[in-house]
Amino acid sequence: MDKRAIGVFDSGLGGLTSVKRLVELLPDEDIIYLGDTGRVPYGSRSKETIIKYTREDVDFLIKYNVKAIVVACNTVSAAALDTVEKEYDVPMIGAVDAAVKRALEVTKNGKIGVIGTAATINSGIYPRKIDEMSKNAQVFTKACPLLVPLVENGRINRGDIVTETVVREYLEPVIEAGVDTLILGCTHYPLLMDIIRDIAGDGVVLVNSGGVTAEYVARWLEENDMLNGSGGSIEYYVTDDTGSFGEMASLFLQSDVRGIVEKVVLGNA
Ligand code: DGL
Repeated sequence: MDKRAIGVFDSGLGGLTSVKRLVELLPDEDIIYLGDTGRVPYGSRSKETIIKYTREDVDFLIKYNVKAIVVACNTVSAAALDTVEKEYDVPMIGAVDAAVKRALEVTKNGKIGVIGTAATINSGIYPRKIDEMSKNAQVFTKACPLLVPLVENGRINRGDIVTETVVREYLEPVIEAGVDTLILGCTHYPLLMDIIRDIAGDGVVLVNSGGVTAEYVARWLEENDMLNGSGGSIEYYVTDDTGSFGEMASLFLQSDVRGIVEKVVLGNA
């Protein structure tokens, strides 16, 4: 048993896709969530900048003596995790491995699509990891830099013409390649699940990288005898306006968190 909290972070709202699943699976865990909303999106920034932001995110979370950090951000997992995890004692769990594993379990034709931020796609992490685990899979990737800003601005609902048009344009080449599995390789994208599902069609299985990472974390804590057993609190910290984050988070989590979001300053910002 380990009664310390779990730290979870992302550049913004995306990591809530991991929080939602963690709460479903482990309602007795305490969670400290950090969304670096003042600097979202990370995905169009350089590797150096993403590493710098990641260190500041981790420095913030370790002040809470967390037992593990869930890097609920594919961009950080792709661009910074390798470097930063060596610098700290706390275990860090990224968002890529569990998504790769799930995609390989569900694909039938071996054609896997991956959508993500420019930093994630340009890093090549998904094709590399898929190739390490299976020589038979073919991978089709597409960077979707406009999706995170749309999500952060609340443009997530079916019928939003702008978002639907952008999603259609991004998905078209991947769907035309004949994928039967699509990794949502950015934790923000499950907030667009309805629109993505409509456009991808029923024949494509969508893999929610935030959700499957939470499932991995739950198994890992259990196997390492690190579950809490009697917690259940969640604290939310952001680096910009608490109001809009609180509204969006409450809608997505279907639980009113508006009063408990706190604004913090990271690093020397
Ligand atoms: N949610 C983050 C991810 O999984 C990305 C966000 C960003 O570009 O800031 O990649």
